[in-house]
Amino acid sequence: MKTIVITSQKGGSGKTTLAAHLAVEAERSGDGAAWLIDTDQQATLTTWHDRREAETPGLAEVALPRLPQGLMQLEAQGAAYCFIDTAPAHSEQNKGVIQLADLVLIPVRPSPADLWAVSSTVEIVKDAGKPLLFVITQAKPQASITAQAIAALSQHGRVAQAFIADRVPYAVAITGGRTAPEISPRSPAAEEIAALWQDVKSCFNETSKAAKQKRSVANG
Ligand SMILES: Nc1ncnc2c1ncn2[C@@H]1O[C@H](COP(=O)(O)OP(=O)(O)OP(=O)(O)O)[C@@H](O)[C@H]1O
Ligand SMILES: [Mg+2]
Repeated sequence: MKTIVITSQKGGSGKTTLAAHLAVEAERSGDGAAWLIDTDQQATLTTWHDRREAETPGLAEVALPRLPQGLMQLEAQGAAYCFIDTAPAHSEQNKGVIQLADLVLIPVRPSPADLWAVSSTVEIVKDAGKPLLFVITQAKPQASITAQAIAALSQHGRVAQAFIADRVPYAVAITGGRTAPEISPRSPAAEEIAALWQDVKSCFNETSKAAKQKRSVANG
C-alpha cells in the first residue's frame, strides 16, 4: 500500500478537494482499493464522506497515536492507496503524519502569498526525507502567474505536469459528497484529475526504479 499525505500550511489551498478527488480517481481507474484518513479537526473530508452515497472510497477513523497501526491494518485488508488529509498548520502533528508518507503532495495556488508560504512546508517534508510532488491548484485561465509559480516551485522539487484549474464543479461536487469527474465524466475537470493521477503514480514507478538500481549497484 502507498500512503499519500496531502499537506500545506496554507489554508484553502485545496488539500481536502485533492484528497477526495484522487481517492475516487484511484478506484475509478481500477488501481485498487483507496482509503481516506482525515487528520484535520475541521473534519471537512469527514463531512464530504458522510454526505457521500457511494460506498467507496472508505474513510478510516483512526486516532492519531494509532496511525501507524491503522495504516498496517488497511494494508492487511488489501488497500492499495491511503490518502491522508492534514490541517493547515505547521505542527508536530503534521510532522508525525508526514513521517508515514510514501509520497507527499503539496497543493499550491498560483499566488504570491501561497508561493511565499510554501518554503516552510517544503522544509518539513525535506527534513523527513520524503519525496514530494507540488500540485498547482485553482489556477486561473491563461494567467502568467501559473507559469511563474511552476518555475519557482521547480527549484524546490518536482511539479505535477497536470494542474488543477479554478472550476466551480469542484466546489459543487464536494458539497454533494461527490467529485467533479463523477458528475461530468467527460469534462475538463475529469481530464485534469485523470492526468494528475497518472503523474502521482509515476512518482512511485520512479521511486521503485531508483531503489532497484541502488540494489543492483550494491549487489555488484
Ligand atoms: N480547483 C478548484 N476550483 C474551484 N474551487 C476549488 C478548487 N479547489 C478547491 N476549491 C474550493 O476552495 C475552498 C478550499 O478548498 P479545500 O477545502 O480543498 O482546501 P484545504 O486546503 O483543504 O483548506 P483547509 O486548509 O481549510 O483545510 C473550498 O471551498 C473548495 O470547494
Ligand atoms: Mg482541508
